[in-house]
Amino acid sequence: MSIRTLKVGMLGCGNVGSGVAQLLSEHADDLAARVGARLELAAVGVRDLARARAHVDPAILTDDLESLVNREDLDLIIEVMGGVEPARSLLLAAMANGKSVVTANKTLLAEDGIALYDAAEKFGVDLYYEASVAGAIPLLRPVRESMAGDQIERILGIVNGTTNYILTRMDEAGTSFADALKEATDLGYAEADPTADIEGFDAAAKAAILAGLAFHSRVTALDVYREGISHITADDVASAKAMDHVVKLLAIAELTADDRVSVRVHPALLPRNHPLAAVREAYNAVFVEARAAGELMFYGRGAGGIPTASAVLGDLVAVARHRVFGGLGSRESDYAARQIATIGEATTRYHIRLDVADLPGVLAAVAQAFAHNGVSIQTVRQEGHGNEAELVVVTHSAIESALAATVSQLRSMDIVRNVASVIRVEGGNR
Ligand code: HSE
Repeated sequence: MSIRTLKVGMLGCGNVGSGVAQLLSEHADDLAARVGARLELAAVGVRDLARARAHVDPAILTDDLESLVNREDLDLIIEVMGGVEPARSLLLAAMANGKSVVTANKTLLAEDGIALYDAAEKFGVDLYYEASVAGAIPLLRPVRESMAGDQIERILGIVNGTTNYILTRMDEAGTSFADALKEATDLGYAEADPTADIEGFDAAAKAAILAGLAFHSRVTALDVYREGISHITADDVASAKAMDHVVKLLAIAELTADDRVSVRVHPALLPRNHPLAAVREAYNAVFVEARAAGELMFYGRGAGGIPTASAVLGDLVAVARHRVFGGLGSRESDYAARQIATIGEATTRYHIRLDVADLPGVLAAVAQAFAHNGVSIQTVRQEGHGNEAELVVVTHSAIESALAATVSQLRSMDIVRNVASVIRVEGGNR
């Protein structure tokens, strides 16, 4: 029996695009059996026609991306080119032309997902984007579909492989940040300009997408408090180690007590026995806490051409099946319309390293600064260095604004030579 063919157009053909082309050709028969139609890669839009593309017939390459998304014969569009424009205009045009789309574009979804969701709704097409967060790990569909009957309360994740590799090397080999970044670059994890990874922009885009889905509200990258790891030193990592913790760059999205959304990306100390502490090198993992399900963890490769292509193909099969059998996948919903809480309202624990004069009354004065701002101290560790000492203070849970006031008071005190670092602590008793 002959089955129909669905024609696929792809925008972009870098690492992920080549992986998609490879899997589409290697598994063509299996995919046809699973979809109920053959999937034919019929057009690939690229900026530079001269560059050779593995697994792609040069005859289907084009640099006319606008014409590609307007082609009547294409049924489905994959977008793996990245960036906000022209990806946004091209996807909007594709959807207006009745094509379902699969995208891996976290930057676009985090900046202007609303425009895409609205277009999918208006034109009655699918918009799938599993590969945009945590690469190969099935995460968005579980959150959007499998957990649609539950109440998600918190998401805590490692969603950037480059920074996790750097922090792993700093923890395991005592490497400096600069040397670990160089290793990550040499291994091809970090880009030539690593800013998006090391300053947390990549993780913040992913946090926005996750928070919007989990809390049924509109969340953009601008709503995410963001701090990267470029200021984390070997001393910070050693200090974490001394209390049996590791430093990780975490993406956190949670509901506040008054039902608003707190969403942030920053380095944090995690107890070494926390499941996320065991996530090494460039792997990603996301911990989801829901009222009925309890704690769930998703783990795997968050980057790389072939692993990420697996997520793109999974989406492609889903949207292609809808073309064959009818219907559409589940939608995003923003019915809850929750407000976003500011970082000043976030509540967490803190690890603070201070260089102080080693004199009578110094510890009492430092403790007084915390007490004055309503921040309760959990532990204090001191190491003397002649007339100077390093104090490491770990607090109980406190509101961010109170901690900021404490730090500012500490900085104004003569006996405090330097506030060497302030890092949040997550994952333990609050
Ligand atoms: N640059 C990202 C990372 C992969 O290092 O995890 C793509 O999101």
